[in-house]
Amino acid sequence: MRPRVTLKLATSLDGRIAMASGESQWITGAESRLQGHRLRAAHAAIMVGVETVLCDNPQLNVRVPDEQHPDPLRVVLDSRLRTPVDARVLTGALVLTTAEPLALGDAEVVRVEADGQGRPDPAAVLAALADRNITSVLIEGGGRVAASFVKAGLVDVIEWFRAPVLLGHEGRPAVADLGFDRLSDTPRFKRLAVSPLGDDLWERYEKA
Ligand SMILES: NC(=O)c1ccc[n+]([C@@H]2O[C@H](COP(=O)([O-])OP(=O)(O)OC[C@H]3O[C@@H](n4cnc5c(N)ncnc54)[C@H](OP(=O)(O)O)[C@@H]3O)[C@@H](O)[C@H]2O)c1
Repeated sequence: MRPRVTLKLATSLDGRIAMASGESQWITGAESRLQGHRLRAAHAAIMVGVETVLCDNPQLNVRVPDEQHPDPLRVVLDSRLRTPVDARVLTGALVLTTAEPLALGDAEVVRVEADGQGRPDPAAVLAALADRNITSVLIEGGGRVAASFVKAGLVDVIEWFRAPVLLGHEGRPAVADLGFDRLSDTPRFKRLAVSPLGDDLWERYEKA
């Protein structure tokens, strides 16, 4: 069985996750970020695209004051193995690629089936996680990885933290191009909850 997939978005009011330059820290407030860490603690794996690693060099660990949680498996999607060997995410990580696997720090590098663009195919990615008994994965960006999984119909839940700021069209989108021509083809979600969180809004959706 494939893992349950949650897409976490931390955006501006107009659905942007970063400035055009890639700067994104921080769009949402401290309360949203703490809730983001609680979400990490509730998932078996956290996944990002290589551009997020290159832009943010995230640790992708769980940081909740006064609480101890095991770190979920960190997963990087990286077709051409561009992740720097000293990237913070690599400690104990799983790097899924479509290239010939190379040694990358102490990360496990595994080749999976390619999609039509030569990148790790979303269904193959989930199968590789299922092989490791991973039952839930939190996608933390960026917009291109989000788009691949949305387009493949593989996002079960959206956890959306929305901050009261506008970045404009030039900002990087939370979900990149989906390529649907007809509205009837686009994925619909059902709202589960909306809660204020500091100055932000936390919205939860599941697949309709
Ligand atoms: N606001 C937030 O909370 C937040 C969170 C995360 C990221 N961000 C921001 O988002 C920006 C990065 O987002 P992004 O959309 O540019 O990049 P991204 O989604 O992080 O990474 C995209 C890259 O991942 C690789 N990839 C491998 N498999 C893929 C697949 N199946 N589908 C899609 N991509 C795949 C591709 O590069 P290869 O072809 O080389 O493999 C692709 O170009 C940064 O500015 C970062 O700061 C913000």
